[in-house]
Amino acid sequence: MSEARKILVTSALPYANGSIHLGHMLEYIQTDMWVRFQKLRGNTCTYVCADDAHGSAIMLRAEKEGITPEQLIANVQAEHMADFADFGVNFDNFHSTHSEENRELSSAIYLALRDKGHIATRSVTQYFDPEKGMFLADRFIKGTCPKCAAEDQYGDNCEKCGATYEPTELKNPRSAISGATPVLKESKHFFFKLPDFEAMLKEWTRSGALQDSVANKIAEWLDGGLQEWDISRDAPYFGFEIPDEPGKYFYVWLDAPVGYMASFKNLCARRPELDFDEYWKPDSSAEVYHFIGKDIINFHALFWPAMLEGAGYRKPTALNVHGYLTVNGQKMSKSRGTFVKARTYLDHLNPEYLRYYYASKLGRGVDDLDLNLEDFVQKVNSDLVGKVVNIASRCAGFIHKGNAGVLVATDIEPELRASFRDALPSIAEAYEKRDFARAMREIMHLADLANAWIAEKAPWALNKQEGKQQEVQEICALGVELFRQLVILLKPVLPKLAADAEQFLNVPPLTWVDLAQPLANHQLNAFTPLMTRIEPAKVEAMIEASKEDLAATNAPAGNGELEKDPLAAEINFDAFAAVDLRIALIEKCEFVEGADKLLRLTLDIGDAKRNVFSGIKSAYPDPSQLEGRLTLYVANLAPRKMKFGVSEGMVLAAGPGGSEIFLLSPDAGAKPGQRVK
Ligand code: MSP
Ligand code: ZN
Repeated sequence: MSEARKILVTSALPYANGSIHLGHMLEYIQTDMWVRFQKLRGNTCTYVCADDAHGSAIMLRAEKEGITPEQLIANVQAEHMADFADFGVNFDNFHSTHSEENRELSSAIYLALRDKGHIATRSVTQYFDPEKGMFLADRFIKGTCPKCAAEDQYGDNCEKCGATYEPTELKNPRSAISGATPVLKESKHFFFKLPDFEAMLKEWTRSGALQDSVANKIAEWLDGGLQEWDISRDAPYFGFEIPDEPGKYFYVWLDAPVGYMASFKNLCARRPELDFDEYWKPDSSAEVYHFIGKDIINFHALFWPAMLEGAGYRKPTALNVHGYLTVNGQKMSKSRGTFVKARTYLDHLNPEYLRYYYASKLGRGVDDLDLNLEDFVQKVNSDLVGKVVNIASRCAGFIHKGNAGVLVATDIEPELRASFRDALPSIAEAYEKRDFARAMREIMHLADLANAWIAEKAPWALNKQEGKQQEVQEICALGVELFRQLVILLKPVLPKLAADAEQFLNVPPLTWVDLAQPLANHQLNAFTPLMTRIEPAKVEAMIEASKEDLAATNAPAGNGELEKDPLAAEINFDAFAAVDLRIALIEKCEFVEGADKLLRLTLDIGDAKRNVFSGIKSAYPDPSQLEGRLTLYVANLAPRKMKFGVSEGMVLAAGPGGSEIFLLSPDAGAKPGQRVK
């Protein structure tokens, strides 16, 4: 093999204000598979990431939870790291953008840009929340659409009619944070002069660093003319203060990509063989790749290379852009239960099922990828269990029974061996190009060849004939050897299965070069099932549990993000009258073991008792305070099966979530069971 390459790889830094879901996992699994492939090939490949910890969303969420932003991001980082580890995503380092390394690098990059004249300042007039004492980003302003008069629309576009506008055009604007009427206020902002880098960007974006469709998109933006980029925000803001500018902070997207460098720098301090400057100097021969989703192309293909160039660093070798995850052909949906958190998946299913499924569908393009749950079950069961693992389980028994677990030397079937050997360059090339789908197709083709050959030789039949023992041993030895090769080829995708197979094969960790060294005269360990079939019931349970997550977070509070008002659409009187709304007495109220957001309520509705789970725990930390209270209850909602039992109906509450959830009560004198009219 030629000299080992030095490669630095990143995935986009997940926001520190929410949980990782299966959409995110598409990116982290893809990146991890590519990194594992590079390491398997003997390259020096380093994979870094971090939480993206800054910004007003994080500041506001921490405030709502009554903790400091530092506490919030520490909690979320622990959760993220556990999710990634359990999915087999093997970062060399997972850091935070709220770190000393990042503060130093971001400040130094800003100062270099400023000193070279790439920073401009000017006054900006923006809505300001006088109650909260802060400027409002567009998504924190709501009001009436200036075009179609739809109420409750966000500051920059209307969900009803699709119009886009300036926040100042909204009628009856109000702060989504405090409800106050915002006032216009001026403030000095700092701008990065992106147009200074137009020539460089035109060149770089056509240099092979981008997939064609991405380069074309960028070309449109470049042709439309580049704008200066506002990189400052006013206090209060959770982030880094701009050097020499008290009260002004870097906009979160300024220091986020610098977080890639900061995470690497933090790692270099622990790994003497890694040299920060060697990777980041302008003429570096090391390679740098950023894996990102298509929604954040502009930050990575325009602002980031320009910042690097302006501050005297090298630019990325390439961006590897992927599309979005859909589930069963549609956008992930909380109500359908297809918005599945990484942890919910892990509670029900083996992570390597998903790794394989993503690999089998991931090409080089930026198309969306559909997780079709039926196809998922079918493909994993048929390919991994039915084809790959099956080879070993068909052969191992005969070697253990007939030859005390010793795999014999054999040179039978040179053509079959050659088919495997000849396929290697193409499989390696497919991995290198991130065409995982092609790699998986070619590997499964080899598994088909091996299975067809074993079926034809039928060692189980031969084994019953006299004098065929040697032949049986040779067939099974080759079967296990071909299985071993498939395991090496699949190791970037299925690291856990590979580790278990190495244990069965009784070999040290396999790498690509081991493909050329067949096992012979070798003692095997006992065979244990390497992977079991996906039970469809487990997939259903995961979807159900994801619906429960929704009930538990109690829309519209969500993860601190501002969701659409689900009640905005008009209904007719019949639809309203169909709701059987009653007065209920909360007889009993208790915690639910294992649920962080739910309370279990036992309701007296006059003529019957009802069991209801409600996601209101964050507002009622002491459940006994609700006992004896009257509230409103939807009696004819279809019962829902949840992880903890069946929920029969729903109690009504108002408020944004967190500690601000207000259970509704009737006036004094109302009796349990009375219908609301
Ligand atoms: N914090 C920024 C990235 C900063 S990088 C310097 C961010 N965070 S994110 O949590 O919203 O997204 C992280 C990555 O996950 C992004 O690359 C994003 O495209 C990807 N995905 C988020 N949802 C996704 C899907 N539903 N499907 C596929 N990828 C998705 O953006
Ligand atoms: Zn409108």
